[in-house]
Amino acid sequence: MIDRTVKDSRLLVGMDTCDDAGVYLLNGATALVQTLDVITPVVDDPADFGFIAAINALSDIYAMGGTPLTALSLLAFDPCDLPHEAAQEIMVGAVEALSSNNCSLIGGHTLEDPEIKFGLAVTGIVNAGSVVTNSDARAGDMIYITKPLGTGIVSTAVKGEVAPEDLLDKSTGWMKTSNRDASTAMLQSGVTSATDVTGFGLLGHLFEMCRGSALGAVLDLNSVPLMAGIDELARMGFIPEGAYNNRKYLENVIDPGEISDDLLLPLFDPQTSGGLLVAIPPEKADLFEFTFSEADVFFARIGLFTEPPVAIKIVSSF
Ligand code: CO
Ligand code: CO
Repeated sequence: MIDRTVKDSRLLVGMDTCDDAGVYLLNGATALVQTLDVITPVVDDPADFGFIAAINALSDIYAMGGTPLTALSLLAFDPCDLPHEAAQEIMVGAVEALSSNNCSLIGGHTLEDPEIKFGLAVTGIVNAGSVVTNSDARAGDMIYITKPLGTGIVSTAVKGEVAPEDLLDKSTGWMKTSNRDASTAMLQSGVTSATDVTGFGLLGHLFEMCRGSALGAVLDLNSVPLMAGIDELARMGFIPEGAYNNRKYLENVIDPGEISDDLLLPLFDPQTSGGLLVAIPPEKADLFEFTFSEADVFFARIGLFTEPPVAIKIVSSF
């Protein structure tokens, strides 16, 4: 691999562990957390799209246990295709999402492009002693996820014009849900390692945690939360291409046992603005569940980290 960073002892998290954000020590106690995320439209409403893109970009800061401070936006669009008002709506949605997370938009850039893209670079701070990486899980840690899966499948069904209205609303609602409260709650309950679930799907991001931590994992299929109606759309074949790519990429590290292929597909579904994937020591599980319940944040316990080899075994009940 190309070494893309200068040797700098202040660089606490660089590119080598495929983490959610880079972390750079500013002084004894405070470090910068920086990330960038750009997405193509996942919903028709421009304001919702801007809102979701911002929540999605903020998520990497929250996955590291950080607090976002400022953001820069990047909007690519074709002015002949997208009316000026729609471009403005995207920005309005983004600013609304950032403000509700105490993050200020301080600049940005637009450019012409035949395909609409919108994203943000977000800068935050984190206490240098409590950075949460994706590579510090320990064997025996419980695995929790903080949003149900299915946003990629819903977007695909929307394109096929078969997504039920209420499922579309649910999916949009989840994508607009900030991971801030989940981040606060995991920090209060002894998290050892975390990431957020985005384009590589649940299994792709779990595998990154396994590889970074040099551990295996066992996942209980029946405990993995799907939005209601997702399994049916998956059975009907509304699976985004990204899910198949993720499955191909992971084929040598997933042991599905007797479980049939179609049941596994939602676990590869690329998520936009997905939940956090959190490793919690078993003795902290009660505290974690209590803290999340008190904070009214969704969670599901879906498996546990195991000794090497670095691979994921899927079972249909513990
Ligand atoms: Co991430
Ligand atoms: Co990201």
